[in-house]
Amino acid sequence: MNEKPVHLFVPTFRVEECLGEIRECLEKGWTGLGFKTVAFEEAWVKYTGLPHAHFLNSATAGLHLALRLLKEKDGWSDGDEVITTPLTFVSTNHAILYENLKPVFADVDRYLCLDPASVEARITSRTRAVMFVGLGGNTGQLDAIASLCRLRGLRLVLDAAHMAGTRLHGRHVGHESDVVVFSYQAVKNLPTADAGMICFNDRGLDEEVRKWTWLGINKDTYTRTVEKQGAYRWYYDVEHPGFKYHGNSVMAGMALVALRYLDEDNGYRRRISARYDALLEGNPGVERIQVAPGCESSRHLYQVLLDRRDEVMVGMNAEEIYPGVHYRDNTLYRMYGYAQGTCPLAHAASERVISLPLHLRLTEEDAERVARSLLAHVR
Ligand SMILES: Cc1ncc(COP(=O)(O)O)c(C=O)c1O
Repeated sequence: MNEKPVHLFVPTFRVEECLGEIRECLEKGWTGLGFKTVAFEEAWVKYTGLPHAHFLNSATAGLHLALRLLKEKDGWSDGDEVITTPLTFVSTNHAILYENLKPVFADVDRYLCLDPASVEARITSRTRAVMFVGLGGNTGQLDAIASLCRLRGLRLVLDAAHMAGTRLHGRHVGHESDVVVFSYQAVKNLPTADAGMICFNDRGLDEEVRKWTWLGINKDTYTRTVEKQGAYRWYYDVEHPGFKYHGNSVMAGMALVALRYLDEDNGYRRRISARYDALLEGNPGVERIQVAPGCESSRHLYQVLLDRRDEVMVGMNAEEIYPGVHYRDNTLYRMYGYAQGTCPLAHAASERVISLPLHLRLTEEDAERVARSLLAHVR
Protein backbone atom coordinates (compact mmCIF):
# COMPACT_ATOMS: atom_id res chain seq x y z
CA MET A 1 0.00 0.00 0.00
CA ASN A 2 1.75 3.20 -1.08
CA GLU A 3 -1.12 5.68 -0.92
CA LYS A 4 -0.81 8.44 1.66
CA PRO A 5 -2.55 7.95 5.01
CA VAL A 6 -5.96 9.59 5.44
CA HIS A 7 -6.40 10.84 8.99
CA LEU A 8 -9.63 11.67 10.80
CA PHE A 9 -8.60 15.25 11.60
CA VAL A 10 -5.74 17.43 10.39
CA PRO A 11 -5.76 21.03 11.67
CA THR A 12 -5.12 23.75 9.10
CA PHE A 13 -3.56 26.98 10.27
CA ARG A 14 -2.94 30.03 8.05
CA VAL A 15 0.64 30.10 9.24
CA GLU A 16 1.83 33.48 7.98
CA GLU A 17 -1.27 35.30 9.20
CA CYS A 18 -1.07 33.57 12.59
CA LEU A 19 2.60 34.49 12.87
CA GLY A 20 1.69 38.11 12.08
CA GLU A 21 -0.82 38.17 14.94
CA ILE A 22 1.59 36.46 17.32
CA ARG A 23 4.43 38.78 16.31
CA GLU A 24 2.24 41.75 17.20
CA CYS A 25 1.73 40.27 20.70
CA LEU A 26 5.44 39.63 21.14
CA GLU A 27 6.50 43.04 19.88
CA LYS A 28 3.97 44.78 22.08
CA GLY A 29 5.10 42.66 25.01
CA TRP A 30 1.52 41.57 25.78
CA THR A 31 0.67 37.88 25.40
CA GLY A 32 -1.93 37.47 28.15
CA LEU A 33 -5.51 38.44 28.88
CA GLY A 34 -6.59 41.66 27.14
CA PHE A 35 -5.42 43.19 23.82
CA LYS A 36 -6.16 40.35 21.36
CA THR A 37 -8.60 38.55 23.71
CA VAL A 38 -10.74 41.69 23.80
CA ALA A 39 -10.52 42.01 20.00
CA PHE A 40 -11.55 38.39 19.52
CA GLU A 41 -14.43 38.61 21.99
CA GLU A 42 -15.75 41.60 20.03
CA ALA A 43 -15.27 39.80 16.73
CA TRP A 44 -17.11 36.71 18.03
CA VAL A 45 -20.05 38.78 19.29
CA LYS A 46 -20.24 40.48 15.89
CA TYR A 47 -20.03 37.15 14.02
CA THR A 48 -22.57 35.22 16.10
CA GLY A 49 -24.87 38.04 17.15
CA LEU A 50 -24.77 36.61 20.69
CA PRO A 51 -24.95 39.31 23.36
CA HIS A 52 -21.71 38.53 25.22
CA ALA A 53 -18.55 36.47 24.84
CA HIS A 54 -15.67 35.77 27.18
CA PHE A 55 -12.50 34.09 25.88
CA LEU A 56 -11.17 31.08 27.84
CA ASN A 57 -8.32 28.61 27.85
CA SER A 58 -10.72 25.74 26.94
CA ALA A 59 -14.32 24.71 26.52
CA THR A 60 -13.90 22.38 29.50
CA ALA A 61 -13.30 25.46 31.67
CA GLY A 62 -16.36 27.09 30.09
CA LEU A 63 -18.66 24.16 30.83
CA HIS A 64 -17.49 24.20 34.44
CA LEU A 65 -18.10 27.94 34.75
CA ALA A 66 -21.52 27.69 33.10
CA LEU A 67 -22.69 25.40 35.89
CA ARG A 68 -20.73 27.21 38.65
CA LEU A 69 -22.42 30.53 37.88
CA LEU A 70 -25.92 29.19 37.24
CA LYS A 71 -25.69 27.17 40.47
CA GLU A 72 -24.74 30.27 42.40
CA LYS A 73 -27.30 32.58 40.77
CA ASP A 74 -30.23 30.17 41.07
CA GLY A 75 -29.22 28.78 44.48
CA TRP A 76 -28.92 25.13 43.48
CA SER A 77 -27.81 22.59 46.09
CA ASP A 78 -25.19 19.88 45.91
CA GLY A 79 -26.76 16.74 44.47
CA ASP A 80 -29.20 18.65 42.24
CA GLU A 81 -29.56 17.07 38.82
CA VAL A 82 -28.45 18.04 35.34
CA ILE A 83 -29.80 16.02 32.42
CA THR A 84 -27.10 15.18 29.91
CA THR A 85 -26.08 12.86 27.09
CA PRO A 86 -23.96 9.73 27.22
CA LEU A 87 -22.67 10.41 23.68
CA THR A 88 -20.15 13.14 24.31
CA PHE A 89 -16.58 13.90 25.24
CA VAL A 90 -16.25 13.45 29.02
CA SER A 91 -15.70 17.22 29.56
CA THR A 92 -19.47 17.74 29.31
CA ASN A 93 -20.23 15.38 32.15
CA HIS A 94 -17.16 16.05 34.28
CA ALA A 95 -18.26 19.71 34.41
CA ILE A 96 -21.46 18.63 36.18
CA LEU A 97 -19.44 16.72 38.77
CA TYR A 98 -17.00 19.61 39.31
CA GLU A 99 -19.97 21.45 40.86
CA ASN A 100 -21.16 18.49 42.97
CA LEU A 101 -24.21 18.15 40.76
CA LYS A 102 -25.50 14.82 39.47
CA PRO A 103 -25.35 13.86 35.78
CA VAL A 104 -28.63 12.17 34.85
CA PHE A 105 -28.28 10.54 31.45
CA ALA A 106 -31.08 10.76 28.87
CA ASP A 107 -31.21 8.91 25.58
CA VAL A 108 -30.45 10.21 22.11
CA ASP A 109 -32.47 10.54 18.90
CA ARG A 110 -31.66 9.79 15.26
CA TYR A 111 -29.33 12.80 15.18
CA LEU A 112 -27.37 11.32 18.11
CA CYS A 113 -28.37 14.39 20.16
CA LEU A 114 -30.58 14.42 23.26
CA ASP A 115 -34.11 13.22 22.62
CA PRO A 116 -36.69 15.66 24.07
CA ALA A 117 -39.06 12.82 25.09
CA SER A 118 -36.30 11.06 27.01
CA VAL A 119 -35.21 14.33 28.63
CA GLU A 120 -38.78 15.02 29.72
CA ALA A 121 -39.07 11.54 31.22
CA ARG A 122 -35.93 12.17 33.34
CA ILE A 123 -37.13 15.45 34.90
CA THR A 124 -37.57 15.27 38.67
CA SER A 125 -38.10 17.85 41.41
CA ARG A 126 -34.29 18.14 41.63
CA THR A 127 -33.62 18.77 37.94
CA ARG A 128 -32.07 22.20 37.40
CA ALA A 129 -30.61 22.17 33.90
CA VAL A 130 -30.15 20.35 30.62
CA MET A 131 -26.76 20.09 28.94
CA PHE A 132 -27.26 19.78 25.17
CA VAL A 133 -24.37 18.71 22.95
CA GLY A 134 -24.63 19.61 19.24
CA LEU A 135 -22.83 16.48 18.12
CA GLY A 136 -20.65 17.07 15.09
CA GLY A 137 -22.24 20.51 14.60
CA ASN A 138 -25.79 19.17 14.30
CA THR A 139 -28.59 21.00 16.13
CA GLY A 140 -30.73 17.85 16.44
CA GLN A 141 -33.94 18.76 18.28
CA LEU A 142 -32.41 21.73 20.10
CA ASP A 143 -35.51 23.88 19.50
CA ALA A 144 -37.77 21.33 21.20
CA ILE A 145 -35.35 20.98 24.11
CA ALA A 146 -35.22 24.79 24.50
CA SER A 147 -39.05 24.94 24.60
CA LEU A 148 -39.14 22.13 27.15
CA CYS A 149 -36.60 23.94 29.34
CA ARG A 150 -38.62 27.17 29.19
CA LEU A 151 -41.83 25.30 30.03
CA ARG A 152 -40.32 23.41 32.96
CA GLY A 153 -38.17 26.26 34.31
CA LEU A 154 -34.86 24.54 33.57
CA ARG A 155 -31.63 26.20 32.48
CA LEU A 156 -30.23 25.22 29.09
CA VAL A 157 -26.47 24.90 28.67
CA LEU A 158 -25.32 24.35 25.10
CA ASP A 159 -22.06 22.49 24.66
CA ALA A 160 -21.22 23.91 21.25
CA ALA A 161 -17.67 22.56 21.14
CA HIS A 162 -18.41 21.32 17.61
CA MET A 163 -20.65 24.19 16.56
CA ALA A 164 -18.51 27.19 15.58
CA GLY A 165 -20.38 28.47 12.53
CA THR A 166 -23.50 26.27 12.90
CA ARG A 167 -26.68 28.16 12.06
CA LEU A 168 -30.25 27.24 12.94
CA HIS A 169 -33.03 28.82 10.87
CA GLY A 170 -30.42 31.22 9.47
CA ARG A 171 -29.08 32.48 12.80
CA HIS A 172 -25.93 31.42 14.60
CA VAL A 173 -26.67 28.81 17.22
CA GLY A 174 -26.71 29.81 20.91
CA HIS A 175 -29.52 32.37 21.11
CA GLU A 176 -31.94 29.73 22.44
CA SER A 177 -29.70 28.83 25.40
CA ASP A 178 -28.90 30.46 28.76
CA VAL A 179 -25.24 29.90 28.09
CA VAL A 180 -23.27 28.47 25.20
CA VAL A 181 -19.69 27.20 25.25
CA PHE A 182 -17.43 26.86 22.19
CA SER A 183 -14.14 25.01 21.80
CA TYR A 184 -11.25 26.36 19.73
CA GLN A 185 -9.00 23.38 20.42
CA ALA A 186 -6.70 22.48 17.52
CA VAL A 187 -8.91 19.97 15.67
CA LYS A 188 -12.10 21.99 16.01
CA ASN A 189 -13.63 24.11 13.23
CA LEU A 190 -12.06 27.33 14.55
CA PRO A 191 -8.62 26.05 15.50
CA THR A 192 -6.08 27.58 17.87
CA ALA A 193 -3.64 25.52 19.94
CA ASP A 194 -6.20 25.37 22.80
CA ALA A 195 -8.92 27.85 23.74
CA GLY A 196 -12.66 28.27 24.26
CA MET A 197 -15.44 30.81 24.67
CA ILE A 198 -18.35 31.20 27.08
CA CYS A 199 -21.35 33.27 26.02
CA PHE A 200 -23.92 34.03 28.69
CA ASN A 201 -27.22 35.48 27.65
CA ASP A 202 -27.44 37.43 30.91
CA ARG A 203 -25.27 40.55 31.24
CA GLY A 204 -24.77 40.11 34.97
CA LEU A 205 -23.45 36.59 34.49
CA ASP A 206 -21.14 37.78 31.75
CA GLU A 207 -19.70 40.40 34.13
CA GLU A 208 -19.39 37.78 36.89
CA VAL A 209 -17.64 35.21 34.70
CA ARG A 210 -14.84 37.66 33.89
CA LYS A 211 -13.92 37.65 37.60
CA TRP A 212 -14.22 33.87 37.90
CA THR A 213 -11.71 33.29 35.10
CA TRP A 214 -9.02 35.31 36.86
CA LEU A 215 -8.96 34.01 40.40
CA GLY A 216 -11.89 36.14 41.60
CA ILE A 217 -9.94 39.37 41.14
CA ASN A 218 -12.32 42.19 40.32
CA LYS A 219 -10.06 44.08 37.91
CA ASP A 220 -7.89 42.45 35.29
CA THR A 221 -4.28 43.52 34.74
CA TYR A 222 -5.02 44.76 31.27
CA THR A 223 -7.80 47.07 32.44
CA ARG A 224 -5.54 48.27 35.21
CA THR A 225 -2.74 48.93 32.74
CA VAL A 226 -4.77 50.77 30.14
CA GLU A 227 -7.27 52.58 32.33
CA LYS A 228 -5.61 53.43 35.61
CA GLN A 229 -2.69 55.63 36.39
CA GLY A 230 -0.72 56.04 39.57
CA ALA A 231 -0.88 54.01 42.75
CA TYR A 232 -4.58 53.17 42.57
CA ARG A 233 -4.07 50.73 39.72
CA TRP A 234 -2.66 48.25 42.23
CA TYR A 235 -5.75 48.29 44.43
CA TYR A 236 -8.13 45.51 43.58
CA ASP A 237 -10.42 43.33 45.59
CA VAL A 238 -10.76 39.53 45.51
CA GLU A 239 -14.35 38.47 45.87
CA HIS A 240 -14.15 34.66 45.81
CA PRO A 241 -11.67 31.92 44.95
CA GLY A 242 -11.93 32.01 41.17
CA PHE A 243 -9.95 29.96 38.67
CA LYS A 244 -7.15 30.58 36.18
CA TYR A 245 -9.37 29.90 33.17
CA HIS A 246 -9.03 33.01 30.98
CA GLY A 247 -7.62 32.82 27.46
CA ASN A 248 -4.51 34.61 26.23
CA SER A 249 -3.63 36.98 23.40
CA VAL A 250 -1.50 34.50 21.46
CA MET A 251 -4.45 32.10 21.16
CA ALA A 252 -6.83 34.98 20.46
CA GLY A 253 -4.56 36.14 17.63
CA MET A 254 -4.79 32.68 16.07
CA ALA A 255 -8.55 32.72 16.60
CA LEU A 256 -8.91 36.08 14.84
CA VAL A 257 -7.22 34.57 11.79
CA ALA A 258 -9.33 31.39 11.88
CA LEU A 259 -12.55 33.39 12.19
CA ARG A 260 -11.81 35.14 8.88
CA TYR A 261 -12.02 31.73 7.19
CA LEU A 262 -14.67 29.99 9.30
CA ASP A 263 -17.60 30.25 6.87
CA GLU A 264 -15.45 29.31 3.90
CA ASP A 265 -13.93 26.37 5.80
CA ASN A 266 -17.31 25.10 7.00
CA GLY A 267 -18.57 25.41 3.42
CA TYR A 268 -15.72 23.14 2.33
CA ARG A 269 -16.63 20.65 5.09
CA ARG A 270 -20.22 20.65 3.86
CA ARG A 271 -19.02 20.05 0.31
CA ILE A 272 -16.98 16.99 1.36
CA SER A 273 -19.96 15.79 3.42
CA ALA A 274 -22.23 16.10 0.39
CA ARG A 275 -19.72 14.02 -1.56
CA TYR A 276 -19.82 11.35 1.16
CA ASP A 277 -23.64 11.49 1.08
CA ALA A 278 -23.68 10.90 -2.66
CA LEU A 279 -21.16 8.06 -2.46
CA LEU A 280 -22.88 6.25 0.42
CA GLU A 281 -26.52 6.84 -0.46
CA GLY A 282 -28.53 3.71 -1.16
CA ASN A 283 -26.17 1.37 0.68
CA PRO A 284 -28.30 -0.47 3.23
CA GLY A 285 -25.24 -1.36 5.36
CA VAL A 286 -24.39 2.31 5.99
CA GLU A 287 -26.88 4.46 7.88
CA ARG A 288 -26.02 8.15 7.47
CA ILE A 289 -26.71 10.54 10.34
CA GLN A 290 -28.76 13.32 8.77
CA VAL A 291 -28.44 17.00 9.54
CA ALA A 292 -31.61 18.23 11.30
CA PRO A 293 -34.09 20.39 9.33
CA GLY A 294 -33.26 24.11 9.52
CA CYS A 295 -29.65 23.40 10.54
CA GLU A 296 -26.68 24.61 8.54
CA SER A 297 -24.14 22.41 10.26
CA SER A 298 -20.52 23.34 10.84
CA ARG A 299 -19.90 19.71 9.85
CA HIS A 300 -17.30 19.11 12.48
CA LEU A 301 -18.06 15.41 11.98
CA TYR A 302 -19.46 13.16 9.27
CA GLN A 303 -20.98 10.18 11.08
CA VAL A 304 -22.55 6.91 9.94
CA LEU A 305 -23.80 3.83 11.76
CA LEU A 306 -22.84 0.32 10.68
CA ASP A 307 -22.65 -3.24 11.95
CA ARG A 308 -19.30 -4.88 12.85
CA ARG A 309 -17.91 -1.35 13.31
CA ASP A 310 -14.65 -2.38 14.95
CA GLU A 311 -13.85 -4.93 12.22
CA VAL A 312 -14.58 -2.36 9.53
CA MET A 313 -12.26 0.12 11.26
CA VAL A 314 -9.44 -2.43 11.44
CA GLY A 315 -9.90 -3.16 7.74
CA MET A 316 -9.79 0.55 6.85
CA ASN A 317 -6.75 1.09 9.08
CA ALA A 318 -4.93 -1.62 7.10
CA GLU A 319 -5.44 0.66 4.07
CA GLU A 320 -4.08 3.62 6.01
CA ILE A 321 -7.49 5.21 6.48
CA TYR A 322 -8.14 6.26 10.06
CA PRO A 323 -11.75 7.05 10.99
CA GLY A 324 -12.77 7.84 14.59
CA VAL A 325 -15.54 7.12 17.09
CA HIS A 326 -17.59 9.94 18.66
CA TYR A 327 -18.28 8.78 21.24
CA ARG A 328 -18.11 5.79 23.52
CA ASP A 329 -21.26 5.68 25.65
CA ASN A 330 -20.08 7.53 28.79
CA THR A 331 -22.05 5.17 31.04
CA LEU A 332 -19.53 2.48 30.07
CA TYR A 333 -16.86 4.42 31.97
CA ARG A 334 -16.53 3.23 35.54
CA MET A 335 -17.28 6.63 37.04
CA TYR A 336 -20.61 6.94 35.17
CA GLY A 337 -21.39 3.22 35.43
CA TYR A 338 -24.32 3.89 37.77
CA ALA A 339 -26.34 4.83 34.68
CA GLN A 340 -25.40 1.84 32.54
CA GLY A 341 -28.41 0.42 30.69
CA THR A 342 -30.52 3.57 31.04
CA CYS A 343 -29.94 4.84 27.49
CA PRO A 344 -30.30 1.90 25.08
CA LEU A 345 -30.30 3.95 21.86
CA ALA A 346 -27.15 5.84 22.82
CA HIS A 347 -25.55 2.54 23.77
CA ALA A 348 -26.46 0.92 20.45
CA ALA A 349 -25.17 3.97 18.56
CA SER A 350 -21.94 3.90 20.52
CA GLU A 351 -21.34 0.33 19.27
CA ARG A 352 -22.09 1.25 15.64
CA VAL A 353 -20.99 4.84 15.08
CA ILE A 354 -17.99 5.85 13.02
CA SER A 355 -16.73 9.31 12.02
CA LEU A 356 -15.20 9.42 8.55
CA PRO A 357 -12.12 11.58 7.94
CA LEU A 358 -13.17 15.20 7.47
CA HIS A 359 -10.85 18.18 7.40
CA LEU A 360 -9.72 20.97 5.11
CA ARG A 361 -6.88 19.06 3.48
CA LEU A 362 -9.09 16.11 2.57
CA THR A 363 -9.81 16.20 -1.16
CA GLU A 364 -12.87 14.84 -2.96
CA GLU A 365 -10.58 12.07 -4.27
CA ASP A 366 -9.64 11.22 -0.67
CA ALA A 367 -13.35 11.10 0.22
CA GLU A 368 -13.92 8.71 -2.69
CA ARG A 369 -11.12 6.48 -1.46
CA VAL A 370 -12.56 6.51 2.08
CA ALA A 371 -16.06 5.67 0.83
CA ARG A 372 -14.76 2.87 -1.42
CA SER A 373 -12.83 1.36 1.46
CA LEU A 374 -15.78 1.66 3.84
CA LEU A 375 -18.18 -0.01 1.42
CA ALA A 376 -15.72 -2.81 0.66
CA HIS A 377 -15.41 -3.63 4.38
CA VAL A 378 -19.10 -3.28 5.18
CA ARG A 379 -20.07 -6.04 2.76
C1 LIG B 1 -18.45 17.74 22.90
C2 LIG B 1 -17.22 18.35 23.52
N1 LIG B 1 -17.36 19.07 24.64
C3 LIG B 1 -16.30 19.65 25.24
C4 LIG B 1 -15.02 19.51 24.73
C5 LIG B 1 -13.88 20.13 25.46
O1 LIG B 1 -13.24 21.10 24.69
P1 LIG B 1 -11.82 21.67 25.13
O2 LIG B 1 -10.79 20.70 24.61
O3 LIG B 1 -11.73 22.99 24.45
O4 LIG B 1 -11.79 21.77 26.60
C6 LIG B 1 -14.83 18.77 23.58
C7 LIG B 1 -13.48 18.60 23.02
O5 LIG B 1 -13.12 17.64 22.39
C8 LIG B 1 -15.95 18.16 22.95
O6 LIG B 1 -15.80 17.42 21.84
